[in-house]
Amino acid sequence: MSMIEKVWEKARKNVKRIALPEGDEPRTVQAAARVRDEGLARPILLGDPDAIRAVANRCGADLAGIDIVNPADSPRAVAYADALYELRRAKGLSREDAARLAADSMYYGMLMVKLDDADGLVSGAVHTTGDMLRPALQIIKTKPGLSIVSSSFLMNCPNQSLGEDGLLVYADCVVVPCPTAAELAQIAVSAADTARVLCGIEEPRVAMLSFSTKGSARHELVAKVQEATALAHELAPDLMLDGELQFDAALVPEIGKSKAPGSPVAGRANVLIFPDLQAGNIGYKITQRIGGAECYAVLQGLARPCNDLSRGCSVQDIVNTVALTAVQAGA
Ligand code: ACO
Repeated sequence: MSMIEKVWEKARKNVKRIALPEGDEPRTVQAAARVRDEGLARPILLGDPDAIRAVANRCGADLAGIDIVNPADSPRAVAYADALYELRRAKGLSREDAARLAADSMYYGMLMVKLDDADGLVSGAVHTTGDMLRPALQIIKTKPGLSIVSSSFLMNCPNQSLGEDGLLVYADCVVVPCPTAAELAQIAVSAADTARVLCGIEEPRVAMLSFSTKGSARHELVAKVQEATALAHELAPDLMLDGELQFDAALVPEIGKSKAPGSPVAGRANVLIFPDLQAGNIGYKITQRIGGAECYAVLQGLARPCNDLSRGCSVQDIVNTVALTAVQAGA
């Protein structure tokens, strides 16, 4: 069974309510029908019900049993506006602006999750990553004990000898452009959690990547990864984590042995932590486009799960992201 089939199976066992703020977007409407048919979650489409039904008619999607919520005409509007005002008044948000924002589908969806009217949210078929992330950071905020939200890419590689039977977790590839050493340490611990929850990896082996292995080069960028490695050990003393390691030393057993002898991770890493967003984003795209890996993206570190789509996503991508979000919600 593939990784994503296992995720579907887990999602079916613990059905969660997933808000879809882009409720009148055709791929989203079709995905909601598929999610219902497959029993992966209880999808909630947000938007104008007439517009949503018109889209469903055009694409032949049956909406029976799917909840539709209109943020512009909701009995929860006042409660949501009040909650948003309380969350953001110290940042200068006025009551009027809170009411206006709470009627926006993206903010409304985040408030549904915050106030437990939904268990998770999936968006981004239309909105940019930043437009989805900002309200998530402002409203959902981080898990207790974390100060940073980041992302992991679950890379399913054709070469089964890599990582965990071909499965590798890459972080961070979407959110934090220039992490500090302390933030990099949190990204590593969050990615190990993601590997356990979504990939079923019982023993995450985390490599802190660099252009240097164990002091082979001296540079302030290398020193940052060394500091992040030490901080990650403090945050999660039982986690199998090592650094700094070059990409090949992390993945290839013979190179790991020769460059980092005695390392519990070198040559057998299944979670790879990139030193910044440029490296992580480029790295996942190389693995996808040249290495032929299937990839699935999730956000990690949020108090409740919200996930972003690429604007080029397919119906299938949305269905899979809903299933991943549901499993995160059930963890
Ligand atoms: N974790 C937790 N909180 C955060 C984070 C984070 N990573 N980043 C910002 N915040 C908080 C801020 O402290 C702020 O809180 P406050 O308003 O309560 O004080 C709030 O979130 C908003 O922060 P801003 O500074 O207004 O937002 P910013 O402009 O920094 O945007 C964002 C944050 C959207 C995450 C930004 O870092 C970003 O654009 N990242 C890159 C996204 C991207 O384009 N990725 C690549 C493409 S996606 C792909 O290829 C698949």
